[in-house]
Amino acid sequence: KCKICVAKTAGFCFGVDRAVKIVYNELDNRNNVVTLGPIIHNPNVVSDLEAKGVYSTDVDKVTKDQTVVIRSHGVGLDVYEKLAKVGAEVIDATCPFVARIHKIAAEKSGEGYVILIAGDEAHPEIMGIRGHCSGESYVFSSCDDFENLVKEKDFSSKKVAILAQTTYNKNMWRKCEELFERYLPEAVVYNTICSATSERQKEAAELAKAADIMIIVGGLHSSNTHKLKAICDEYCKCWLVEDAEGLRACDIDLSGAKFIGISAGASTPAYIIKEVQQTMSEMLNNVDEEFNFEEELEK
Ligand code: F3S
Repeated sequence: KCKICVAKTAGFCFGVDRAVKIVYNELDNRNNVVTLGPIIHNPNVVSDLEAKGVYSTDVDKVTKDQTVVIRSHGVGLDVYEKLAKVGAEVIDATCPFVARIHKIAAEKSGEGYVILIAGDEAHPEIMGIRGHCSGESYVFSSCDDFENLVKEKDFSSKKVAILAQTTYNKNMWRKCEELFERYLPEAVVYNTICSATSERQKEAAELAKAADIMIIVGGLHSSNTHKLKAICDEYCKCWLVEDAEGLRACDIDLSGAKFIGISAGASTPAYIIKEVQQTMSEMLNNVDEEFNFEEELEK
């Protein structure tokens, strides 16, 4: 019999899962729900929500009769102010980990600190964080970028606090920490990287080590999904599929497989992962339903 194991960290992280549930809950209570930008980059979820009348909109287009959901990335204070002015009802689905960064940014910049943030300047999360700073704030994307920034601006007479985008690369952060110490030894440093992504990658690698075949479920254009596949490719044969239909369509050879692992990118809903798992069981027609990977590892 073949064993199938779905990674516990497959799919949505805590913050995105929470935000998606908040939108669906609101739908049960009221009409005219909009989200500030797509709640998640998954076409299935977006079209399901659109079929239920939930659209993504821009803060400048919000009207008084709408209920506006703020997504997990969070937004700056200016957005809250605009929404309050319009008088629309606001449901805040900002991930609590991001909200914590907002709090630090607001407090520290209120105390006169310059805020430096490791991340992607154009990302909505970074724009949201900067929108909670009352003073100077700067973004750097890499160690080189940080060095250039401290050389260009003279922070020597200023108090500095350093933060990170939740999805910032951990290895890059570690390297940057040496530079923080060298150039700004007095700076207050907050490692605000969220571990959801690295935990998903770590578990996928563990599964891939034990499996004959790995299936990664996710958008064919999603970078975090491709990253998962690349990690698993190092240990076993790995396929990337968008959904159950994609699994049926791909020319995967399951003969002889004894252990198949499944993980999924950050934008893949649980029901799609479930469908892939069920389709896989049907294709194999010989699955050990009792199998538990953790118990197996302990043996
Ligand atoms: Fe997700 Fe929140 Fe972390 S949105 S990646 S759990 S910061």
